This record gives sequence, C-alpha cells and structure tokens, in this order.
Amino acid sequence: MTDKIRIVGFSGSLRVGSFNTAALVAAQELCGDGVEIEIFDISDFQPFNQDLEKDPPENVTKLKAAIRAAHAVIFSSPEYNYSMPGHLKNVIDWASRPYGDSAWDGKPALIMGASSGAIGTARMQYHLRQTMVFLNMFPLNRPEVMIGNAAKKFDENGYLTDEATRDFVKQGVAALVEEVRRRNT
Ligand code: FNR
Repeated sequence: MTDKIRIVGFSGSLRVGSFNTAALVAAQELCGDGVEIEIFDISDFQPFNQDLEKDPPENVTKLKAAIRAAHAVIFSSPEYNYSMPGHLKNVIDWASRPYGDSAWDGKPALIMGASSGAIGTARMQYHLRQTMVFLNMFPLNRPEVMIGNAAKKFDENGYLTDEATRDFVKQGVAALVEEVRRRNT
C-alpha cells in the first residue's frame, strides 16, 4: 500500500490539561512517516436522541465522514468510575446510527488510556472493547496501552517525557499501522 495511512483519534477527556489528549498528541509525534493522525474534537456533541438520527446535527455528519475517511481509529480515554466517560459513549452512539449505517463498521482500532491511578484505565478499556463487539470494530489485542500514574509521565506542558511510555505509545501506533497494511495488501 503506497497511500498515506490516515488515522482518526478521539480523546475521551474534554479537560484542557488532559493526559489522554496529550497521549494522542504523543501518538501524532511518534507515528512516523507516511502516517497521519487527526485528533477529532468531540467537545460539542449533544446527547444522543434517536428522533434525530436520520437527520442528525452537522457535527455528527462530519464525525461519520471523518471516521469513514480513516483507515483506523485510536481511542485515548480516561476511566471514569470504572468505565468509559459518558460523552465518549455518546459520540460512539451517534456515529453508530441509524441502524445499518454505522461509521465504525469494520474499523481496526487502538485503545489507549491514561489515569492518575495505578491501574491505567484497564476497566474502561474492557468496557470499550465490549461496545466494539456490536460495532464490528477490530481493537488490537496487543499492546494494551495503559498509562498509570500519568502525572509522573507528562510534564507541565503535557509533553510525554517518560521514555518507556513513549516507546509503549509508539509500539501501539506501529501495531495499528501494521494491521492497516495487512488489511490493504
Ligand atoms: C476519575 N478518575 C479515575 N481514575 C481511575 O483510574 N479510575 C476511575 O474509575 C476514575 N474515575 C474518575 C471519575 C471521574 C468523574 C473523574 C473526573 C476522574 C481519575 C482520572 O484518572 C484522572 O482524573 C485523569 O487525569 C483523567 O484523564 P485526563 O482528563 O487527564 O485525560
């Protein structure tokens, strides 16, 4: 495959100093030549309403187009109360509808998560994987990019400084790129 590999990334955190958004920025930095990661802003999505799914708000149309234009997806999300943040699930739901017109269908995905705690979003990641079963997405089994004790791994500007974590993120993106290449050869 000679084309540029396009990946769309979603941060599950809207926080200005978010470690998860910073992890996506690190993925952009570490993705290598021939790969482009767009970070899609999900801050302005209203709660999903099935009455609107056939004539959705403009941001939903743009969201679905961005997913469809990408070879693969990265979710980088905090764990909120042992699960995924509600607004991330909301965006996933918007792009999955109407029935039969899900933008997620068949997309390979990398899951990453940064947490202030030691466990590094494991419980969020398994809930997200469960949702991906119905979406017919293909999350990589390895690596599981779980970044615990995040405050020690990023500097005050959100730059990922921890070398082992940089390598981990790099391996995650490389595995996703390899999966895209495998599917397109
Ligand atoms: C949290 N946090 C958290 N951490 C964790 O490891 N497991 C959890 O279940 C939760 N639950 C939780 C709920 C809510 C509502 C908040 C606001 C926070 C802490 C979380 O890991 C921490 O705030 C991260 O820094 C959030 O990620 P961002 O915003 O830095 O990307």
